[in-house]
Amino acid sequence: MAKPKRIGILTAGGDCPGINAAIRGVGKTAIVRHGMEVIGISSGFAGLITKEYAPLTEDKLSGLLTLGGTILGTSREKPFKKKGSGSLDKPQLIKRHYKELGLDCLVCIGGNGTQKTAWQLSEMGLNVVGIPKTIDNDVFGTDFSFGFDSALAIATDAIDRLHTTANSHKRIMVIEVMGHHAGWLALYAGMAGGGDVILIPELKFDVKSVNRYLLERAGKMKSYSIVVVAEGLSRPVEETSAADYVSKMIEKGTGAETRKTILGYLQRGGSPSANDRILATRFGAYAVDLIARGDYGKMVINKQGETSCMPLKDVAGKTRLVPIDHSLISKARSLDICMGDECITQNRK
Ligand code: F6P
Repeated sequence: MAKPKRIGILTAGGDCPGINAAIRGVGKTAIVRHGMEVIGISSGFAGLITKEYAPLTEDKLSGLLTLGGTILGTSREKPFKKKGSGSLDKPQLIKRHYKELGLDCLVCIGGNGTQKTAWQLSEMGLNVVGIPKTIDNDVFGTDFSFGFDSALAIATDAIDRLHTTANSHKRIMVIEVMGHHAGWLALYAGMAGGGDVILIPELKFDVKSVNRYLLERAGKMKSYSIVVVAEGLSRPVEETSAADYVSKMIEKGTGAETRKTILGYLQRGGSPSANDRILATRFGAYAVDLIARGDYGKMVINKQGETSCMPLKDVAGKTRLVPIDHSLISKARSLDICMGDECITQNRK
């Protein structure tokens, strides 16, 4: 096998803290350890379609460890998504530009959608390695993706702050955190922030039982309650947000003054946590080790604390949801936290 000399790197999908740390991990390992050249592709797969790129030299890697966002820019371009007839054949353009740039491999940093595209490109004969990132922690095959730990710290801090104002006003506070399909962030932040009710998309929730639980709490002289909801919670189509829907239903059902907070993009901004810096650095370095031994078509993963990899074909098209028998869900139930479907308080004799 000829030694890989030139690699491309792109970041696609929603940004998150730790992406720049991963770019740095890839860049330093590739340049310093393996003597490779690194090309930074702009704005995700869009940059490979328009051929926008710039060499990522060693001097450009300084200061990246702590920097939020992505220096390469990102987009939600999905090149394999079918468009009307006469539109550009984006996958073929990507293949052409990959060849014209003289790339030996393309590193794709992104979430589930990105990993699927990475696999589709590898099926077209491109050498590809994937690195998972997302605050939702829903990339299939890895226990943790970087971005999650940083977002968890932000969401937990926000919930902490709601406790005091909720207590002062004797209110129910509903806080919506990100998680389009998966409830990892809501579950972890809800547990870390002392949420009384945690509602995640994976568990069907019953408004009546949540309201009963909240009324029982009030009856036990608990002056306020915190309800943590994931943005992807199922709700009627006309409801614009999970927080809106849940707070309305609670206020109507309990008569208690209820307020909502939607944390939104604050969860994706800013500097990565120490754990995310380390995870992103490990992932970046490991990706280059894969490339150096010609082990393509893989995504880097974290399993039980160890960095390894799995075939992109086994990741593509899948989402890592919270298993309904997850140990943190059963711990929440033992602590009398209402998970929406079944509230222990109401079952007590
Ligand atoms: O990064 C994942 C995520 O935060 C989801 O939870 C959310 O639905 C989505 O990104 C929104 O991102 P955007 O508005 O950038 O598409």
